[in-house]
Amino acid sequence: MTQETALLPTSPVAGEDHVPLRKVFVKTYGCQMNVYDSDRMSDALARDGYVATDAVEDADFVLLNTCHIREKAAEKVYSELGRLRDLKKARANEGREMVIGVAGCVAQAEGDEILRRAPAVDLVIGPQTYHRLPEALKRARGGERVVETDYAIEDKFDHLPNPDRAKTRARGVTAFLTVQEGCDKFCTFCVVPYTRGAEVSRPVAQILAEAEKLVEAGVREITLLGQNVNAWHGAGPEGRDWGLGDLLRRLGEIDGLARLRYTTSHPRDMDDSLIEAHRSMAKLMPYLHLPVQSGSDRILKAMNRRHTATEYLALIDRIRVAQPDLALSGDFIVGFPGETEKDFEDTMRLVESVGYAQAFSFKYSSRPGTPGAELKDQVPEDVKAKRLERLQTLLARHQRDFAAACVGREIDLLLEKPGRLAGQLVGRSPWLQPVNVDAKQSQIGDIIRVRITKAGPNSLFAEMIG
Ligand code: SAH
Ligand code: SF4
Ligand code: F3S
Repeated sequence: MTQETALLPTSPVAGEDHVPLRKVFVKTYGCQMNVYDSDRMSDALARDGYVATDAVEDADFVLLNTCHIREKAAEKVYSELGRLRDLKKARANEGREMVIGVAGCVAQAEGDEILRRAPAVDLVIGPQTYHRLPEALKRARGGERVVETDYAIEDKFDHLPNPDRAKTRARGVTAFLTVQEGCDKFCTFCVVPYTRGAEVSRPVAQILAEAEKLVEAGVREITLLGQNVNAWHGAGPEGRDWGLGDLLRRLGEIDGLARLRYTTSHPRDMDDSLIEAHRSMAKLMPYLHLPVQSGSDRILKAMNRRHTATEYLALIDRIRVAQPDLALSGDFIVGFPGETEKDFEDTMRLVESVGYAQAFSFKYSSRPGTPGAELKDQVPEDVKAKRLERLQTLLARHQRDFAAACVGREIDLLLEKPGRLAGQLVGRSPWLQPVNVDAKQSQIGDIIRVRITKAGPNSLFAEMIG
């Protein structure tokens, strides 16, 4: 055995005396937290000999990590399950087994209803019980139809493996790290408080240990994740209660970690210490995703957002004083029940005055079990569609203006992966836009100085300087 193979982690080897390798195919829908969770579940399954495959037809276990945020997102899952049912049959005819699992927010919201609606499904597992996946999968393989959607008493993060070093390397130089999960805000349109449960913050030591592991494996940029990431709090080592600003400052001390980001923030939880981090921390990227949903106070109240449009704008002014170079991003919902033309105009005005560098906008989707679904005065689909089109036209103009204003600027660029053209690499600007530059493959992970030369529709182009 060469020294190199001796250093590899012991993984099961296919063969008579060993556990046969099994293949898992994971498909991820929804937000970044699902991306993070999918990786953690793959890491947990790897300990049982499951290797990842990109070919669903080869998979012994197919896991859909689902999203319930809008009706369309949830429906996608059922059409995918229809296709998988046929695949499972075809495999069974060849004498091969295929276990189908549903994880994520649809799993949590619908539970055993999924087993009724999609009989090919063997396993349903909610986000709070992912550490039980390997054991649940064994039961499913034994023929049981498994539903694991209770909120576990034990902390899943204590039981899920830390990111695997080799896999982290393969995943690249940027990584997500969930620090907070769940939501206590109960916006009246939103399913998240029901699918992800109450707000929970991971402890400082656990987060630092995971961040250090990531950095040892070559990660240079970490994005802290939470449904309300800026509600994160925990006991600092000196006994004082820490907020996200303190956590960012501590993470900023890790050698080799070059950049930090965090998402998603709620306007009510942007405290002074976090704003101060934007002023003083060079490693904290000047980008903030701060959803507002609507510019109408009446609608904001009906949505239970617990702030007014004026308060939101005043908050942005304060953050921009601390970090004048800040790019803002937001989320918007048009056609919330009772939204009038005037309410919508208020949203357009708010957008005009903020000037978002990037934004996500959606037609209101009525979600079963949320207070919004009970409201009378639902807005007709065609009205929603027209408003969405007007809003998106405005947001797209701002995004283009922002990109055009970047041309000529010099920035530090973290080179992340091969670009579309040979000889090019792509990275993200401090403001999260993809940037293409001529560079060598061996430079992935380097931070280089570039000048932005051109703005395309979805990315920027740059040349190396110095
Ligand atoms: N925690 C974040 C949002 C998470 S959900 C926050 O408070 O901003 C991501 C986005 O999906 C929301 O910001 C909202 O714009 C959108 N969304 C949530 N529920 C929706 C619904 N029922 N219909 C349409 N869009 C919705
Ligand atoms: Fe949903 Fe509101 Fe919680 Fe965001 S803050 S996850 S929109 S309930
Ligand atoms: Fe969707 Fe759940 Fe994320 S509903 S947006 S996957 S928290």
